[in-house]
Amino acid sequence: MKYYIINLITIIGITLLFVGCSKLQENITQPQTLTIHSKGINDSSSINFHGNVLKANNFNLNDCAKCHAANFQGGITGVSCYNCHDYPHPVGIADTTSSNFHGKFLLSTNFVMDECQKCHGSDFSGKGSNQLNCKNCHTQAAGPFACNTCHGNIGDPAKIAPPKDINGNTSTDLITIGAHTSHLYENDFAIVACENCHKVPNITNIKGHFHPVPTTSIVIFDSLAIHGIASNAVFDPNTGTCSNTYCHGNFEFNKSDAPPERQFAYTADKMTGNNKSVKWTLLDGSQAPCGSCHGTSDGFITPVGHKKYPLKECVACHSTVVNEKGDIIDKTKHINGQINYALTKKR
Ligand code: HEC
Ligand code: HEC
Ligand code: HEC
Ligand code: HEC
Ligand code: HEC
Ligand code: HEC
Ligand code: HEC
Ligand code: HEC
Repeated sequence: MKYYIINLITIIGITLLFVGCSKLQENITQPQTLTIHSKGINDSSSINFHGNVLKANNFNLNDCAKCHAANFQGGITGVSCYNCHDYPHPVGIADTTSSNFHGKFLLSTNFVMDECQKCHGSDFSGKGSNQLNCKNCHTQAAGPFACNTCHGNIGDPAKIAPPKDINGNTSTDLITIGAHTSHLYENDFAIVACENCHKVPNITNIKGHFHPVPTTSIVIFDSLAIHGIASNAVFDPNTGTCSNTYCHGNFEFNKSDAPPERQFAYTADKMTGNNKSVKWTLLDGSQAPCGSCHGTSDGFITPVGHKKYPLKECVACHSTVVNEKGDIIDKTKHINGQINYALTKKR
């Protein structure tokens, strides 16, 4: 504090000198070596480093503005703060309604935050300064790198998929949003994860996945979606259609692979699913009733090649998956790539 006052007095003194001299300036050649600031103004290890000086006065920039101009672009000093960094920030940097809001700025610069980290800390916690702590607002451990910051619901860490998408859209008519919610968060049939359709970053490779102009498809199916005969599964971004996925019935199970005591259920060499092509943005429920992915045209939901049973009887032989009402009782066992055969225990 004492140091700061002395420094301030020096600066004010020099300011007066500077202002006083400026009247005569026209006829005088300024000595090239004149420095206004103390030695170390530009040395981040020095106590005189301008960052440290400012930190000590809670980043009050009023003094700097006197010489470096109100817009900090140099003024009489000819030295703009913006020569070296995107600081001072514009008014509105923390105001979501302002066009200067940092979120909008970061979106427009593809979320490159390396510069921000220089002052705000590599972990965004402000290097000890409360005013620089991004985590005051971005409260999760990863701060602004939390998975729901740029897509998903910023108010709910469990919801990291769109809506909202990268550009802030929420309409399910857009393929960036589509059926994310019905797959991930409101799904009574199965457990679906990002990995099933995307290459997923973790906190250590997070910067690598910001590629707003994707050169390759961002839908990359995992081993479940392309399970068995479904290696040709594909998403077409032009039509928004998903085809040939295992999940939507591109499967076959061979009688010859079944243990002898289970072959009775086969009415053909294999049981096959319906290999439905589905539209990612059609959310009226018409694409996924029981019987759409497996079932026969006469209304049975047992797959083609399976002895026909009504819905309420599946439980007799698939008791770990369904109940007598035909509800899926264990989502981890349905659309999991495996045959789940288990007879109902005799009571
Ligand atoms: C010659 C280059 C240069 C100029 C000009 C400059 N700065 Fe800096 N400033 C730096 C560097 C380097 C850092 C350290 C952070 C970094 O690595 O970018 C820094 C850091 C800061 C910090 C952060 C302090 C902290 O503890 O994190 C503030 C605040 C700051 N400068 C304000 C200003 C202001 C205000 C101006 C204009 C009046 C200005 N700077 C002009 C180079 C400069
Ligand atoms: C009395 C006028 C005056 C005030 C007040 C002032 N500056 Fe400067 N500043 C200058 C001048 C003149 C230069 C260019 C010559 C020099 O380097 O001293 C300069 C240069 C700088 C540089 C670049 C130094 C270099 O070597 O490249 C930084 C950084 C800087 N000022 C930061 C600040 C900060 C931060 C404040 C507010 C705490 C501030 N200045 C207040 C006059 C001032
Ligand atoms: C040269 C240092 C420096 C750099 C680089 C920097 N900031 Fe800052 N930032 C500060 C300082 C100092 C403050 C607090 C004082 C102020 O607002 O002037 C601040 C404040 C903020 C605030 C407001 C915090 C609040 O609670 O109101 C936001 C938001 C912010 N910065 C975002 C960013 C983003 C995003 C970047 C990268 C694009 C960035 N900053 C780069 C120094 C910096
Ligand atoms: C700073 C912003 C930001 C953060 C934080 C972020 N993402 Fe992303 N994420 C993006 C952007 C931008 C895209 C879009 C890339 C594209 O369109 O090519 C994206 C796309 C994705 C995708 C779709 C597949 C892809 O690669 O395009 C997944 C999955 C994803 N992010 C998961 C995550 C996870 C998991 C985390 C946390 C570990 C996370 N994201 C954190 C910006 C972010
Ligand atoms: C004063 C509170 C506050 C501070 C401090 C703050 N943020 Fe934010 N930030 C927000 C809010 C609120 C949003 C979300 C706006 C929305 O999605 O409606 C946001 C959004 C973001 C986004 C996502 C932008 C997008 O387009 O989806 C990024 C990235 C981000 N902040 C980075 C930072 C960084 C880096 C810092 C520190 C340098 C920081 N924030 C400090 C409040 C803050
Ligand atoms: C059933 C498949 C599927 C699952 C599961 C899935 N996504 Fe997606 N995702 C898509 C499709 C399809 C797109 C649109 C692809 C395109 O634009 O070409 C997409 C696009 C995205 C985008 C880009 C949005 C934009 O604005 O560019 C993000 C981010 C994303 N997904 C995140 C996630 C996250 C996070 C998860 C897991 C929580 C997830 N997705 C799970 C199919 C899926
Ligand atoms: C009487 C016993 C029995 C009943 C009832 C039964 N299944 Fe099956 N199911 C089997 C057997 C046996 C297999 C073949 C298992 C093997 O290949 O190892 C099988 C296989 C299947 C398969 C393909 C492989 C797998 O497990 O995903 C599906 C799909 C299927 N059943 C659905 C149904 C549905 C839906 C119902 C009710 C409408 C139903 N089953 C009722 C005995 C039954
Ligand atoms: C989105 C496509 C899809 C829908 C909709 C669907 N299933 Fe399935 N179902 C599958 C797939 C794929 C299998 C193959 C086995 C596996 O991976 O679990 C399967 C297998 C089964 C089996 C055999 C046991 C097993 O999991 O191995 C039963 C029983 C079954 N489904 C019942 C139902 C019932 C009841 C409904 C409606 C509540 C339903 N299915 C809706 C895709 C679907």
